[in-house]
Parts: sequence; C-alpha cells; structure tokens
Amino acid sequence: MLKKQMDNPVLKASFEKILAGNQAWVKQVEEDTSGKFKQLAKGQHPEILWIGCADSRVPANQITNTLPGEVFVHRNIANMCVHSDMNMLSVLDYAVNVLKVKHVIVAGHYGCGGVAASLSRKQFGIIDNWLCHIKDVYRFHSEEIDAIENEEEKVNRLVELNVAEQVSNLCSTSIIQNAWKERDDLAVHGMVIDIATGKLIDLDITVTDSEGLGKVFAYH
Ligand code: CO
Repeated sequence: MLKKQMDNPVLKASFEKILAGNQAWVKQVEEDTSGKFKQLAKGQHPEILWIGCADSRVPANQITNTLPGEVFVHRNIANMCVHSDMNMLSVLDYAVNVLKVKHVIVAGHYGCGGVAASLSRKQFGIIDNWLCHIKDVYRFHSEEIDAIENEEEKVNRLVELNVAEQVSNLCSTSIIQNAWKERDDLAVHGMVIDIATGKLIDLDITVTDSEGLGKVFAYH
C-alpha cells in the first residue's frame, strides 16, 4: 500500500526532502563538539512549557532561538487550553510536576486561521466543535470585537483576548494552583507572535499566584 503511494514521484520527492533535511541535521549534531547532544540523549531539563498554535509558521524553538532540550511543547489549533483536554492536561502536569518548568507560555499568533474561522459562520468539518471554544471567548468580548471594522484587526484582537482567556484557563487548573502552593518559581505568561517580524510580544498578563483568581476558581 505504502509502496504504491510512494510511486508517485511528487510524493516521493517531498518525502526525500524530509530525509535529506534530517541528514543535514545529523551532520550538525556530529560536528558539535560541546557534548550537549550526548547529554540530551540521557534526559531533558527544560525551563519552559510552550503552548502554541499548530500553525507551521510558529515553531517554538525558532521563535525563541532555543535548542532541543530547552522547550517542552504542546501545540493545537489556536493554542487552546480546554479544561477537559486530557492531552493538554497531561502535558501540563508532566511539565509542571515532573520537569518543574518555571515558565508556561501560551503563545498565540496574529493572523491565526483558527481564530479567523471562529469568527465566520462557515462550517469547516469536525474542527468546528473545537473552534466553538474560541467562539465562547468571542462571546465574552463581542462588543469590543464587533466595534472593530477591519477584519484583520478583528481577528488579531481576538487572538490577544483568546491568549488571555487560555492563560486564565491554565490558572484555573488544579495542576497550576497546587504547584503554586508548593513553590514560588512558576509563572504563566500570555504572548503573541507577529509572524511578519518574528517578534514574540509579551501581553503583560503574567500570573505567578492564585490571588487574582475569582472566588470560585481559586481552590482553598
Ligand atoms: Co493559529
């Protein structure tokens, strides 16, 4: 089955490009004399958990100019932190309680296709049910969003508001709150990437304790 598919020369060429790219990377690893890759093979000690969009234009390592081993990553469409998403919660729990990361970064990006789609009334398939979580964020801020005339600006503002909402969702988890009871070196940040400039913009909504959480959200 696979062989038959790979008889397609275009498919074969694009797959070989991936392998050739890896060969170039292997060469870089071989040429490295610092010993860091041998060390990395034994384990990881990243200080950052990055929760970003699945979009191909926002790779965590390139954006932060970091190397393998420095950033623990979870990505999904529109960098959502959905309360009952076991995938996200498992990554968060492992990052916070085992790896003991110091920074959890929710990284949105301007021009996010997921956010743009959530502002439309079009159906895109099963993803519509995921995008409903963003529509919920819109609902909290519909007056502000509706007042913006330019479509691009509308999307970009919702990108920012969505990041803030996901930061809030993370802080509502028992995982983050229990970690804050144990240690004071854990910060949750909200940031947005401007793809055109590569800039990672701090939205200045960093949370380092549960003090600001609303009554029902802060656990005793
Ligand atoms: Co996106």
